[in-house]
Amino acid sequence: MNIEFLAAPPADAATVAIPVAKGGVESRTAREPAAAALAAAARFGRFEGEAGATVEAVDESRRLVLLGTGAGSHADLVKAGSGLTAKLLRSGETRVVLDASGLDDGAVVSLLEGAVLRAWHHDGYRTKLPETQKVSLTTIAVVGASGAEATWQRAARVIDGVGLARELVTEPANIIYPETFAERCQKLADLGVDIQVLDEAAMRAAGMGALLGVAQGSVRPPRLLVMRWDGTSGAAKTPVCLIGKGVTFDTGGISIKPAAGMEDMKWDMGGAAAVAGAMMALAGRKAKAHVVGICGLVENMPDGNAQRPGDVVTSMSGQTIEVINTDAEGRLVLCDAITWAQKNVQPEIIVDLATLTGAMIISLGHEYGGIFSNDDALAAQLIAAGGAVGDPLWRQPMGDAYDKLIDSPIADMKNVGPREAGSITAAQFIKRFVDEGVAWAHLDIAGMVWASKAGPGYDKGATGYGVRLLDRFIADNHEG
Ligand code: BES
Ligand code: MN
Ligand code: ZN
Repeated sequence: MNIEFLAAPPADAATVAIPVAKGGVESRTAREPAAAALAAAARFGRFEGEAGATVEAVDESRRLVLLGTGAGSHADLVKAGSGLTAKLLRSGETRVVLDASGLDDGAVVSLLEGAVLRAWHHDGYRTKLPETQKVSLTTIAVVGASGAEATWQRAARVIDGVGLARELVTEPANIIYPETFAERCQKLADLGVDIQVLDEAAMRAAGMGALLGVAQGSVRPPRLLVMRWDGTSGAAKTPVCLIGKGVTFDTGGISIKPAAGMEDMKWDMGGAAAVAGAMMALAGRKAKAHVVGICGLVENMPDGNAQRPGDVVTSMSGQTIEVINTDAEGRLVLCDAITWAQKNVQPEIIVDLATLTGAMIISLGHEYGGIFSNDDALAAQLIAAGGAVGDPLWRQPMGDAYDKLIDSPIADMKNVGPREAGSITAAQFIKRFVDEGVAWAHLDIAGMVWASKAGPGYDKGATGYGVRLLDRFIADNHEG
């Protein structure tokens, strides 16, 4: 989507959007030349300026769209922008003029955020899409908000990162697998990100037996993708470390999943996608922070060479793991990625993101990601960042009683506990790999990566959850 900032409306403007606050229909429409038509359209359409609501009127040859901005909060404005795009994206119109005269600059940026986020789509494999369903809208021309342009540029770079995450999540697993995931992220080098990719041999040399045990059933070799952005020119010695679960397809392995819905497991790399997207956002807007993003990339397949339930693997930390259930693979990938980070990056803060457990969706549905942490301050910072950008988190408990549930009779631990508290025992497993003194948070985002229906800032499908959260967390706590 192209965003243009204009001083005056173009003479040939065909579609014009007019933002209207909740309860402000009368006062806002009164100053329009087509006041009577707009007031009537609002009345017939029961439009009162609710966030995201729209109603149309025609004034000679112009289409006028009243666009509700509700109470004017950031969330309401995102909804409004989202509502505008949802209405016009495939409408046949190519350009909409946004009359921003009644909005302050911050409000304009929030509205544009919603509009551009909602415009993201992936039609690449639809060769027979009817003309009337094709995306037509290419440009939003903003009139009367030239002061918003600089802030918008910064927001747009974060939205680029959301787009990368959505692209990686949306692509099927025959297109995105460990090698191609890493290849798609190579373009971050152009933004100044230093990229390192460990292949299987390098991971074997490092001793990553837990991650490699998951990968051994697949013909697709695993990768560890390491992306470093240092916007402090070396001033910040210890980077913040972001680590993502990147299971590019999760069949469950020998503990195979049921067929129904298994196609969803193409998005079992949503944590890694959020990390890659966040790195793109940070580098794109030249964040004054030092951040390392790490993606543990594997495919979990059943095969003659796949690991078996009961196998014992040795993780990079030296701790041994009895693999009771090969479908609890995400934690096996994360534990070695975390150890690699602690040995090679020496972070004081680690945030991991993973579509780790179905149990998380049972607990929180699709309303919140779950956050587990050994550090109250870090947890509070992440929850605040998520709340501010619309990627909400809810804190979950941890403790020794849960930890005991993953003791194994043959190894240091087993990779699953009992059915109950499944998300918590998964978090306890990961915690066993976090070094003393490292502040750590684990975000179980299983319910947030994919949406079955459109919401504020996204169509149904990949949401890009986590990118804006991580970007805001860094901006608020690790810059300047
Ligand atoms: N990727 C899944 C978790 C998941 C399930 C995410 C559904 C999104 C939707 C994970 O690897 C998994 O299979 N977890 C198991 C763990 C169990 C075997 C202890 C689960 O949640 O059933
Ligand atoms: Mn699994
Ligand atoms: Zn999984």
